Amino acid sequence: MAAIGIDYGTSNSEVVFFNGEGHQHIKLDPHVENSNKIRSSIFIYYEDDLPTPPASMVEAKVSQIQRSISEQLDKAKQGYYDAQDPKEQEVFSQRIDSLRGQFHDKPALQRRAIQLLLKDMTVQELSLQQLVESGKFAFGEEGFRRFLKTPEKGRLIYSPKNFLGASLEESQQQAFVGMIGKQLSYFKQCAEQQLGQRVTTAVIGRPVRFHGTRGEEGNHQAINIMRQAAALAGFDDVSFLEEPIAAAYKIEQTLEQQTTALVVDIGGGTTDIGCINLDPLKVQELERRIDVLSVSGKRLGGMECDKNLVIKAIAPHLGQNLTMQNGLPVPPTYFSDMCAVDDIPKLTRFFTPEYGLDIAQTMSITKNPKTLERLLIIQEEKLSARVVNSARMAKELLSSKESITLPLHYIEPDFDVAIDIDLLHRSMRSWLSKVISLIDECLEGSSKMPEVLMITGGMSLSPIVRKAIYAELFAELPLLENDAFNSVCEGLAIQASKLSSVGVKS
Ligand SMILES: Nc1ncnc2c1ncn2[C@@H]1O[C@H](COP(=O)(O)OP(=O)(O)OP(=O)(O)O)[C@@H](O)[C@H]1O
Ligand SMILES: [Mg+2]
Repeated sequence: MAAIGIDYGTSNSEVVFFNGEGHQHIKLDPHVENSNKIRSSIFIYYEDDLPTPPASMVEAKVSQIQRSISEQLDKAKQGYYDAQDPKEQEVFSQRIDSLRGQFHDKPALQRRAIQLLLKDMTVQELSLQQLVESGKFAFGEEGFRRFLKTPEKGRLIYSPKNFLGASLEESQQQAFVGMIGKQLSYFKQCAEQQLGQRVTTAVIGRPVRFHGTRGEEGNHQAINIMRQAAALAGFDDVSFLEEPIAAAYKIEQTLEQQTTALVVDIGGGTTDIGCINLDPLKVQELERRIDVLSVSGKRLGGMECDKNLVIKAIAPHLGQNLTMQNGLPVPPTYFSDMCAVDDIPKLTRFFTPEYGLDIAQTMSITKNPKTLERLLIIQEEKLSARVVNSARMAKELLSSKESITLPLHYIEPDFDVAIDIDLLHRSMRSWLSKVISLIDECLEGSSKMPEVLMITGGMSLSPIVRKAIYAELFAELPLLENDAFNSVCEGLAIQASKLSSVGVKS
């Protein structure tokens, strides 16, 4: 029986097994060659018909149909009383009988109600719980490709982890348990096939803080959902480890002497920082709380940068700088609402027909509204996730190029946006200063100053990030080179292997 590390990330997830000597990365996405990671997004979809609407909706529709039959009955009765001759009276009498029959035929009424509801219903109207209960699941690239090809057939949950600490009703929490349970079960299955043994234990990475404002309450909820999801997936034992601490365990294996490390993990959803005493003599020890000097973390990851880049670089081409006839600017909230891929209520509101009408009305009172039409297309065709994804691609490309041309042809043919590194830098300024405040918070909480620095997570590949943190803050500290994507999960796998070797149930 094996124990694995699972880095359940906001953007990407990974599974690694450590056998005491080396790491084995589990291949999770058959559509991506030579890659250990898988996109964390899930596409829940329907190949054919949508599921039967819930009983309460059907009953409400039945009552509506019955009200309409009642009105027709009243008219038919009136016709009967006003009839000029017995023949005409007979026609109304038959009509009254037929309507009474329809009024009381419950099964037929229900069938008709379901038909009517399905005719008007789209996937977007289904609750998350209904989707999870009755939809099909597609993970990783397959899911994202399906979403791009047939967005109307399902719903893309861009990043389930992002919602775990948010204020969720019980039914929504259960929907996330079901959804993540399926994902973890798929990971477990891949691991069991590739390792050739049962996998019963997992150490799952966790951010220091799951949510921006809900503190321990948000953390508690998120861990609860993950724990239930792991149980649903069939894991017997699961424990959680802060992501930067896991990354530190990985790097500890390469050290020759004791040191104090500042680990900065900047991922897609959160930035997590830890200051920790590392010691090559302690690599086998399971309980290291005493060595963790301080941690800090915030919901402040790459997705925030992507959204900021949309606002700075793309929104100006979607009508952001236009003024209306009254001299006021087009509402700036249009653009923040458009980007709200991690805020289901906000995004759902953005996709409503009323919101589209609002944009169309603004267009009618805006001088030269041509560019605003692009925003309307994004709204009508529900392209928010694609726009944020395009900004992510632009940001990543600008890690190795000075300038790029970003094609946005899914919005309008030949619509390209030029973005250079300066513009990206400007869009990242306030984000960077928040990351630096978080580093200060961690240092203030630590009884010892770091002797080495480690920057990890996908965002550590950005030269802008490296310059701001390393060159400008800690140039005098040695930098521990590491793998931006794998360090956290390899550390989690090390912890999992320690757990399984001592047989501790945590
Ligand atoms: N070459 C690159 N340059 C800049 N950013 C990059 C690069 N490659 C990936 N990223 C960014 O890194 C982020 C993903 O990092 P990572 O895979 O570490 O996140 P995660 O583990 O899924 O998220 P989290 O740890 O916050 O839950 C994304 O925002 C992605 O755009
Ligand atoms: Mg991560």
